[in-house]
This record gives sequence, structure tokens and C-alpha cells, in this order.
Amino acid sequence: MKQDISSRRIFGIISHPDAGKTTLTEKLLLHGGAIREAGTVKARRTDKFATSDWMEIEKKRGISVTSSVMQFEYDGKIISIMDTPGHNDFGEDTYRILTSVDSAVMVIDGAKGIEAQTKKLFKVCSMRGIPVFTFMNKFDREARDPLDLMQELEDVLGLPSTPVTWPIGSGLNFKGIYDMLENKVYLYDQGKQTDVIELGEDGVFGPELEEILPGYSLSELRDEIELLEGAGNEFDREMVDAGQLSPVFFGSALADFGTTPFLHHFLEMSPAPGARKTIDGEVNPEDDFFSGFIFKIQANMNPAHRDRLAFLRICSGKFERGMTVQLSRTGKPIKLSQSTQLFANERETVDEAYAGDIIGIYDTGNYQVGDSITTTKEPIFFEPLPTFPPELFMMVSAKDTMKAKHFNKGVDQLVQEGAVQVYRTEYNEVILGAVGQLQFEVFEYRLKNEYNSDIRKEPLDYSLARWVLTDDLDEIKRTLDSRLKLVFDAKKRPLILFPNQFTLNFYVQKYPDMQLVEALDIQEDI
Ligand code: G4P
Repeated sequence: MKQDISSRRIFGIISHPDAGKTTLTEKLLLHGGAIREAGTVKARRTDKFATSDWMEIEKKRGISVTSSVMQFEYDGKIISIMDTPGHNDFGEDTYRILTSVDSAVMVIDGAKGIEAQTKKLFKVCSMRGIPVFTFMNKFDREARDPLDLMQELEDVLGLPSTPVTWPIGSGLNFKGIYDMLENKVYLYDQGKQTDVIELGEDGVFGPELEEILPGYSLSELRDEIELLEGAGNEFDREMVDAGQLSPVFFGSALADFGTTPFLHHFLEMSPAPGARKTIDGEVNPEDDFFSGFIFKIQANMNPAHRDRLAFLRICSGKFERGMTVQLSRTGKPIKLSQSTQLFANERETVDEAYAGDIIGIYDTGNYQVGDSITTTKEPIFFEPLPTFPPELFMMVSAKDTMKAKHFNKGVDQLVQEGAVQVYRTEYNEVILGAVGQLQFEVFEYRLKNEYNSDIRKEPLDYSLARWVLTDDLDEIKRTLDSRLKLVFDAKKRPLILFPNQFTLNFYVQKYPDMQLVEALDIQEDI
């Protein structure tokens, strides 16, 4: 069984929209032979879609709304890519999915460097100490100086990096990639890999490249390598594992160039599933009892199957179809008879799975995001998943008051799925909170299509929510003025909504005794 665990890799790809995440994912899947012909991004925008796109709303907008899991085999490893929506309109799912991975690949557009969304997603990885591997993309086009790009990782993200491959020029002068570990040069010409040159013990300073690379390319490469050898960060496995040092790769996802050395080294360097923290200890993948946690619940992924699927990350032991487990939150035994492996919209029944696998289990309403299941007698509670503070707020109600029941049922369902945050005012009005506009659209679409309830929407002018760590409502009310709003989360914990940072700062100064917090763990109580 150990073999099964050490050969597994689960990673998420994070990037700013358009940096090339979809293109890279497709190329990686192609390497593994998982799909014969990857739907290209171009095709996706007409009427064929990339394999990871699911719901109707995604098709309409040509983007990925839900995060999917894609599994493929390469080099004896079983690799699961967790697709995270990279579009501007992403949601909390994106953050949460990163709690289920063992490492992340950060795709950066070589001409643009670090962009807004990269920063947000990286923050989640760094909060959890997830190792981050960087792929500097689009070197077939004019790109920024590679040393500058690395410096930016350190300056903007506080992430030191160490190059594993190095680009030889970019754009019209892009000649290839030097694999610093294997001491090889992959040559590139007009959108393709043309040759691979093995270098001698002097590396790029030896004679092998002299006839092959134009003089200016070679001298620039030599200067850069000399500089890196003198001043670059050394590779340090422990720092990589702790997410404090990022191995960096260069290439062009579109030309599928630089992707082979990337995949090869990434699989060597990235961690296999490791121990998972629980609230009072940890669970090891080798532990013989079965355990796992649910990081996502999704309803009606396929209109042909009207069902809910809970995404389970297995943390220890072996899953066998039909086994009975205990849901730690309730102590209730559940038989796992229907389980499925996920490959975008194709599903395959899975009979066995191990620590480090992600499987889907059918859910008839038993599970909540953050739940753990186990075969031990004692319940296990994994480290809670974080809830992220929303930045957008919307008051919603049923258009047809006769349908209030459908509306409320839909709202409850979507809250359990973690699709959107729901708050209620003292008067039981429903306020949605989201990190991306698209979450509202998905909410509206699903209430209409699945719960037959049209909604009325009223955008609200708040941008920050803070939990208040007190039960004394009168005390809170004394501090409120007309710009602020008191609401309650699903666990009836009070929050204040603020229109902007300025009002929040003002409030904090004026009421220093009020304890405000930005994020609470899902299961945490005040
Ligand atoms: P995303 O998932 O991160 O949003 O990015 P996606 O892969 O969809 O790529 C965004 C655009 O960038 C696509 O162009 C894609 O072809 C292009 N692209 C991705 N990787 C590379 C690369 O290595 N080199 C170059 N030159 N382009 C790359 P598009 O949507 O077809 O638009 P357009 O650029 O053709 O107008």
C-alpha cells in the first residue's frame, strides 16, 4: 500500500486569468495520455469545450465555474490535477479546493509577471504552507527578463525561488530551455522542440552549444547562469516542502515546450500525500484505518443525473466500495456504496482508492463541507477549512412570495454546499456574500433551474465583513451607525458589514474594545 501512496500526487494549478492555466492543464493531460485531443482554448470559446468545463452556465460563458478533478498517469505516478477557476469571477470554491491539494503550480504570464489573482491564490497556499512550483509561461512571445520575474516573486509574494530550467531568450529570439539539473538543452524553433543536447561537465560553458546557438544568445545565457551560480538560491528540499522556496520553470504551454522537463522534475520534487493535521493530532496516510474529509459538495453536475456529489480527499487507509464509515460530526454510520472517480463530466465507478485520492461519493443530504468520515470508533476532526471573508454583498428574496419555501430550501442547500455565504439580518432578510460576482449568477441560475424560484436582487454597498467576538447584541448595536449593518451567519454568529476599509479603520479606532476578526474556521464557535 505504501507504494500506492508514494506514487500519488495531488496538485492545483493557480493563475491569473489568461496566464495559460487551461493550456498547461491540457498539455499535461496529453502527456499522460489522459485525453487524446485536448479541447483547445480557441475551440472552447466556440462550441467545443475544454474537458474541465461542466455546467451549462460555464458553457455559456466559456469559463470554468466549478472546480473539477482530472486524474492521469505519467512516469509511474498517479496524478490528480484539481482545476481551480481562474476567471476573475471565481468564488470561494477556488480557495477551498486548495485545502485539498499537496502542492500547487503557479502559472505566470512571462510578459506580465505577477497579477492580482495570482496574489490572492498564492496567499491561500502560503497560509497552509503548500509547496508552490512556478511555471513562467509564454516565452514563445516577448517576455520579461527572467531574473526580474524571479525577483518579483520575492518582492511581491515574499517567495524566494530557485530555477530548475532556464530560458534562452524569448519571443523571436527564443532558442530553448536549459535544464539545469539534467544539464541538457532543449532547442526550440518556430513553435516546436527541435533537438535535445546533452552537455558535458562544463555545462553551458562547454563547447557543445557554440555551433548551435547564435553568439548573443549563448553569451547572454552564460552571463545569466554565472550570475545564478553566484547569487541564486540553492535548491533546498525542506524549504520547498514548507512552501518557502519555489522551484521555477520556463516554457510555452501553447507550444508544449518546456512542459516535459517541468512535469518530470515536478513529479520528483513535489510531495506525495503526507500527514494531515487533526484538531488534536495528525493522521498519516499509512495509518490502517480509513479517513477522509469533504472539501466540496456539488449538486446536479450533470443534468442527466439529478444528484449531489461530495468530493472526498482520502487521508488514510483504503477505501473500498460498500464499506461503512462513521460521519464524525453526527456519529452516524453511512454505507459508501456509490462512489465515483472524476474525470470532468465522465464518471467511472471506483471500487478501491487510497490516501491521496480524490473521489466523489453520492450524497443524499448527509454531508456538509468540512465533514470527516472514518472507520475508527472515535470521531476524527481534521483541521477546519477556512471561511474566507466575502467582498461583495447582495440582498435577495423570492420574487413570488408563494414560493418562499422553495427559495429557502435552495438557499439552505447552496449554503451547505458552500457555494455562497448566506447571512440573515435581524428581520430574517437574506444577504449573500461572495468573493466573486459569478457566485451570485450561479446562485440565481440554480435557484431558478433547480428550485423553480425566481429571485429579486438588490446589490448592497458593503465590501467588508467582520465577525464580532461577543454575544452581547446590545453592545454591538450601540456601536452601529447608518453606514454599518449587523448580520448573522448560518451559525447565528454576529458580523458587521462595512462599506469600505476607511469606515472599518474608523470603527476600530473608535471602539478598540470590540474584537473583530476577518476569518473564522467553518466549525469554530465563538
Ligand atoms: P487561463 O486558463 O489561465 O485563463 O489561460 P488559457 O490557457 O485559456 O490561455 C489564455 C490565452 O493565452 C489563450 O489565447 C492561449 O492560447 C494563450 N496561451 C496560453 N499559453 C500560451 C503560451 O505559452 N504562449 C502563447 N503565445 N500563448 C499562450 P486565446 O484565448 O486563444 O486568445 P489569443 O491570445 O489567441 O487572442
